[in-house]
Amino acid sequence: MTIVDVNRTASADAVAEAERWTAHNYHPLPVVIADADGAWVTDVDGRRYLDCLAGYSALNFGHRHPALVDAARKQLERVTLTSRAFLHDQFAPFCRGLAELCGTELTLPMNTGAEAVETAIKVARKWGYRIKGVPDGQASIVVAADNFHGRTTTIVSFSTDPDARADYGPYTPGFRIVPYGDAAALEAAIDDTTVAVLLEPIQGEAGVIVPPVGYLPAVREICTRLGVLFLADEIQSGLGRTGDTFACDHEGVVPDMYVLGKALGGGIVPVSAVVARSAVLGVLRPGEHGSTFGGNPLACAVGSAVVDLLRTGEYQERARTLGAVLHDRLRGLVGNGVTGVRGRGLWAGVDIEPTLMTGRQACERLAAVGVLAKDTHGSTIRLAPPLVVTEKEVHFLVDRLGEIITA
Ligand SMILES: Cc1ncc(COP(=O)(O)O)c(C=O)c1O
Repeated sequence: MTIVDVNRTASADAVAEAERWTAHNYHPLPVVIADADGAWVTDVDGRRYLDCLAGYSALNFGHRHPALVDAARKQLERVTLTSRAFLHDQFAPFCRGLAELCGTELTLPMNTGAEAVETAIKVARKWGYRIKGVPDGQASIVVAADNFHGRTTTIVSFSTDPDARADYGPYTPGFRIVPYGDAAALEAAIDDTTVAVLLEPIQGEAGVIVPPVGYLPAVREICTRLGVLFLADEIQSGLGRTGDTFACDHEGVVPDMYVLGKALGGGIVPVSAVVARSAVLGVLRPGEHGSTFGGNPLACAVGSAVVDLLRTGEYQERARTLGAVLHDRLRGLVGNGVTGVRGRGLWAGVDIEPTLMTGRQACERLAAVGVLAKDTHGSTIRLAPPLVVTEKEVHFLVDRLGEIITA
């Protein structure tokens, strides 16, 4: 006779299997997703959740957006990979569409966000040596404390997060770290060897930190005056999330290079890119940088469909109007279990009163009432629902949050 353990769920089994067979470099919530549509996911036990993380903003257009799935499906039937040894018919349209969306000239496609950041660093160094005239091997790049730009050895070399950095030395030199939001400190860190400033226009992993008004324009002015490239890592903040195409747009700032990823792949394939003027990206010559999968036909087909969605302005508008609803409602929780709220558009960092519960516990309780979110740095939770979310769903999210912190 088979004894059925009624407490054992498909989710519990899948969690145990994952624990057993994978490296523990993440600490996921015990939610095992089986399928997804728009802003909602369903787990292997049939429970539904409103996805308020949206793949760390990789799912800005929701799960399986019909236009994006259609573009991917059509491309799957034709050609998916050529390598960059040959051209393909999706390549130039994607590069052109993205460059035009960014109001600039050239696109260099890669795959993950970290690869795009690495590309930005390499291009800035090369620009420094070849155009600015920095002595060989001396190039410096100014970055901000509490940054998050990815996980490669060079990128973690200038992280200030011990979890991200410790035990991965020896570290790549050539980076100067200044406080985020302090334009005077940034200017003081620049000298004749400085080739670039690399910043997130809003710091995502740090807890959705919006810099003081005037900071980004000041960085732009300093970089222009001192002959330094401004590299904007819009991997998480860009492509509609904040209510504009780019977070830099809110202050009318145009960087020298956009570093993009996440939502560029429509939640279907990893697609990243750096986008800049030919005076900057034009420093690269054949054989000096590349990636087998970067700019592959499937990626370009999906990326072009993403650019088409952004061209309509509809998603930026949704993020703007629904973001206002979200922030208005979240502000109402301050003093009632929430100590602070920050963000822009459909993106918020919410500080939970630390004596009530940790951010992790808040996310576990949210999951239990049908909302997926992710904690960061102790007592902060990040909310970034897909831009296809409805107003009713925004209220659902804040209602559930209100319940779990007052329960
Ligand atoms: C601002 C920023 N830059 C870079 C990255 C790295 O992207 P990826 O995980 O695709 O390498 C992230 C990921 O969270 C990010 O938020």
